[in-house]
Amino acid sequence: MEDSKRKDVIEKFYLDCGFATRALHAGEHLGQPIGSHAHTNAIFQTSTFVFENVDDGAKLFDHKKQGFIYTRLGNPTVLVLEAKINALEGQKVKLADPEHVRISSLVFSSGMAAISSTMLAILKGGDKIIRGDVVYGSTEDLFTKILPRYHVNSVSVDTSDLAAFEKTMKANPDAKAVFFETPTNPTMAITDIRRVSEIARSINKKIHIIVDNTFATPYLQRPLELGADIVLHSTTKYICGHGVVIGGVVVTSDEKVKDDLYQMMVDLGPSPSPFDTWLVNLGVKTLPIRMKQHCSNALKIAEYLEKHPKVAWVAYPGLKSFRYHELAKKQMDDFGGILAFELKGGFEAGKKLMESVHLFTLAVSLGCVDSLIQHPASMTHHSVPPEKRLKTGITDGLVRISVGLEDVDDLIRDLDRALQKV
Ligand SMILES: Cc1ncc(COP(=O)(O)O)c(C=O)c1O
Repeated sequence: MEDSKRKDVIEKFYLDCGFATRALHAGEHLGQPIGSHAHTNAIFQTSTFVFENVDDGAKLFDHKKQGFIYTRLGNPTVLVLEAKINALEGQKVKLADPEHVRISSLVFSSGMAAISSTMLAILKGGDKIIRGDVVYGSTEDLFTKILPRYHVNSVSVDTSDLAAFEKTMKANPDAKAVFFETPTNPTMAITDIRRVSEIARSINKKIHIIVDNTFATPYLQRPLELGADIVLHSTTKYICGHGVVIGGVVVTSDEKVKDDLYQMMVDLGPSPSPFDTWLVNLGVKTLPIRMKQHCSNALKIAEYLEKHPKVAWVAYPGLKSFRYHELAKKQMDDFGGILAFELKGGFEAGKKLMESVHLFTLAVSLGCVDSLIQHPASMTHHSVPPEKRLKTGITDGLVRISVGLEDVDDLIRDLDRALQKV
């Protein structure tokens, strides 16, 4: 289906609805075969689509007719999720600013496929990008090991420090983009998206502002409303929510970025599988209700840990003691389901804790319905050089928890018992 039709469908039916309604309904009918009378959308598990005749095939390739050709290029099941995420990230931008009606989304086979395809779509040899100093381990590798091979270099800065960011921006006025996570993985540092966008554009009007919104999800934070023009997610996490899929998505208000990204989809092939996309679409329907519970459980656990004598500090945006609390209150609708903390006994104490809990599963990833616990220094951020890791607050004893939807009293009891063994 062509973009104009896609936009019509989204705008016509869903832009006036609330978040939960959009999460349930936006895009759904795009995946229902005509005449099937199915209540839920279908899985078009096919690699190719049949042309009516030679002329029909030629028209589809010439973009003179709407339809599907080959699943790497587009698939109705994938289109449903693209329309839905578009409606979740986009609605308020349209209402607030009628110029931003061209928000559109592309679904990818992983969060890393979404991030790397975005970089390849907007950068070329000789370009430079400014990026947050704390990013997910593979994103760090992309910036430090892969892109430099194509003569794309990155300048790393703590984007939560606006003075430092402005200085870096002034020193690199020709940078093509700014990329950051907020909250960051795993230190939970928060960047003021609006101020960073303003500062960057006051120096370079054309710069792209790219936000990895994986930790917050559009339910808690919509960066396009705050000045970013590209938002991306690992849908593996909260958006799917059930830990059954690896996936990603990019949402952009820039028509050229969308076209260039689509070219990456076609020619590099980071396309998602229809079945996986269908599972993500199923998960996203309950995103609002899940996020409410993740936030409420995480706050209670953060408050419990903060008072525990064996805990040195807790990083959670909902805690008044957390240095980014005021900014989180302003920028996010709630504080999320992830927290990090340092045990006074350092790594050995953390190891003991992780091996003593029963309800928390020792595993990387986050945003699942059940609670996960992990050790960033040896797991998700093992590829970050130790000096850099320590400088950015990813200490050897840092433990990260992705708080699930269990009864919170059970989770606290589990932690309490495990902490006694530390
Ligand atoms: C913030 C963030 N961005 C991106 C990714 C990469 O996503 P994926 O594993 O779906 O490729 C992750 C994975 O943990 C992440 O935490």
